[in-house]
Amino acid sequence: MKGVILAGGLGTRLHPLTRVTNKHLLPVYDRPMIHYPIQCLLNAGIDEILIVTGGEHAGDFLKLLGNGKHLGVKELQYTYQEGEGGIADALKLAEDFAEDGKICVVLGDNIIEGNIRRAVADFFAQPSGAKLLLKEVPDPQRFGVPRLDGGHIAEILEKPADPPTSLAVTGIYLYDRDVFSIAETLKPSDRGELEITDVNNAYIERGDLTYDVLQGWWTDAGTVESLYRATRLVAEGGANKADVGMQSSAGGENTDAAASA
Ligand code: DAU
Repeated sequence: MKGVILAGGLGTRLHPLTRVTNKHLLPVYDRPMIHYPIQCLLNAGIDEILIVTGGEHAGDFLKLLGNGKHLGVKELQYTYQEGEGGIADALKLAEDFAEDGKICVVLGDNIIEGNIRRAVADFFAQPSGAKLLLKEVPDPQRFGVPRLDGGHIAEILEKPADPPTSLAVTGIYLYDRDVFSIAETLKPSDRGELEITDVNNAYIERGDLTYDVLQGWWTDAGTVESLYRATRLVAEGGANKADVGMQSSAGGENTDAAASA
């Protein structure tokens, strides 16, 4: 499976920090933010990676990461998103890179304590569709939030004022190749973006979406508060640990030892 990191967007919620650099190049404790999603993919055995970026500082990714070999990346590719058309708009640029295979997509400002090896292995065995990773959070209204019906996700609401659960849809998504034809059908939302939540709802309508719940902490780092929180969490305990796994939607405990992606 190949990996795609979405690191476009203008990072306006972090002004003035992002006036002279890209959000994903800002420090989170002792590393640039982009190192964390790269490590997340590498820990899952995914070492062919495409970075989608944009804005005025895209060239700095190349200066920082080069060919990625020093980080353990086998093949590192880059592409450029014009404007800030949304997460699903950025994802469309990965179609050729994905060829006909499944992909693991990670938002460039998402950081986890544990690892996703088991989810990637399970999705590898899943015949088709998509898999999401959820996490209990104190502020679900900031995220995509699932409405659950029994053991299934009935619908995902983007930043609901009145969230039906305290679960967030994290920015780690597993998709089959149909994601690109689904993305072609999307219309811009009220905030003028092609929404990844609309992609996920399309998979729900097909009855072809599974989920797991992450163990360990998860955070985004796209606001001043969450960037501070991410830095504190990494400094206190470290990120991308091999021995922190996830819970499957069936309620089973997944351990890293069981992973075989
Ligand atoms: O972090 C998880 C959340 O990410 C999900 O729960 C939401 O459902 C999802 O919509 C998204 O919410 P945000 O509003 O926080 O996303 P944001 O606009 O901050 O973008 C997150 C990352 O996506 C960003 O670090 C880079 C990438 N991105 C974003 C946009 C708008 C792009 O590559 N291109 C873009 O045009």
